Amino acid sequence: MLELNYAYSMDAFMTYQFGLRYGSNFIQDTQKRQWYLNLFFSRRPYLFWVTEAPKFANRLSKLLGIRLIPKWVDEATHHLESWNLDICDKAERLLSETDEISPGDYPVIYAQERKAMRSTYPDVVKSYSSSPGGIYPFRYQIASDMYDHNAAAHETSGDTLTYVYYEMSRRPELQKRLREELMSLDAPILYPPPENGPQNLPDPKKVDSLPLLDAVLMETLRLWVAVPGGQPRLTPFPPCSLAGCDNIPPNVRVQAYAYALHRNPEVFPDPEAWNPERWMEASPEKLSEMRKWFWAFGSGGRMCIGNHIAIHSMKHNIAAAYTNYTTTIYEHGSMDLAEGFTAGPEGNRLSIVFHHV
Ligand code: HEM
Repeated sequence: MLELNYAYSMDAFMTYQFGLRYGSNFIQDTQKRQWYLNLFFSRRPYLFWVTEAPKFANRLSKLLGIRLIPKWVDEATHHLESWNLDICDKAERLLSETDEISPGDYPVIYAQERKAMRSTYPDVVKSYSSSPGGIYPFRYQIASDMYDHNAAAHETSGDTLTYVYYEMSRRPELQKRLREELMSLDAPILYPPPENGPQNLPDPKKVDSLPLLDAVLMETLRLWVAVPGGQPRLTPFPPCSLAGCDNIPPNVRVQAYAYALHRNPEVFPDPEAWNPERWMEASPEKLSEMRKWFWAFGSGGRMCIGNHIAIHSMKHNIAAAYTNYTTTIYEHGSMDLAEGFTAGPEGNRLSIVFHHV
């Protein structure tokens, strides 16, 4: 499930980012998906140095020839970046050379950032008008952002979905209730689609407002946080007070952990239990307290920029699966949350059996 969920999350997101023509097709293209995921995850043990002490790692390498990050890690990153840059180049050509782009092929996110950059820095755009060799404005800036987005998208959502399947597979009666709820949609996501039934997907707002589906996802994001690592911030000027400490000078790095916040027993009684019902049975006051402590996507100026598309994409995945199938666990490795800034199941393995209903 893990690999398939990464593939689904990447495809769902990249289709929005680059359109159907240039977005990934990792679900069907097994070879490409394994190429990508192997490169992406092989760098994991070295991410600490890249994110937390890049200058130190760089200097050690340049001055003393000691590499904390092996050369092949840089090479793996280079391959992934080149793959992404190539897709950006194609999206750029599509936008600059095609008069009418079909809605399915429209690279929504790429186009939005391109438009924002161009209108914010018109002088830069002018200076590029005579550039040779197909070089275009903001090529690397936009590609860097696009890479950041699709890397952020597939891992977090893939890990979360894997835990959804794990937990749901242990609760057959909950699967039944969820299916009943999903079948109440005007256009249930039936597979195969019935000959005389609705051929369209249901209204996304209706999918979003299904209470049990929402509770299942919220509870999974609470217990199995996809970003359990510290989310850092710098203190502002003038000195501030925080968590009972006064006079903290500016520019001090402080951080909080969604993992810990989500396990406060006063807010989430029996916090280690996966209990979606807690989101449905809480009083309005309790619910607003729980939502205040819910920090799966962070908050403030650096909050996850993809939280809406992530929820949209994951809810549709769960809805499509549990409208048509029941699931049972076949086998799995350790499902404990691994350690890391982002994390999925430690054992890296979950096999599920799908039974068509
Ligand atoms: C289950 C799904 C996801 C989870 C749990 C998640 C969680 C997070 C968290 C905790 C942060 C840091 C927030 C902070 O420091 O306050 C973050 C940042 C970010 N996320 Fe997500 N994310 C998810 C999906 C996505 C998707 C689909 C995208 C695609 C655009 C995305 C793009 C980003 C980006 C670009 C940032 C950095 C924002 C910034 O620093 O300005 N994420 N995410």
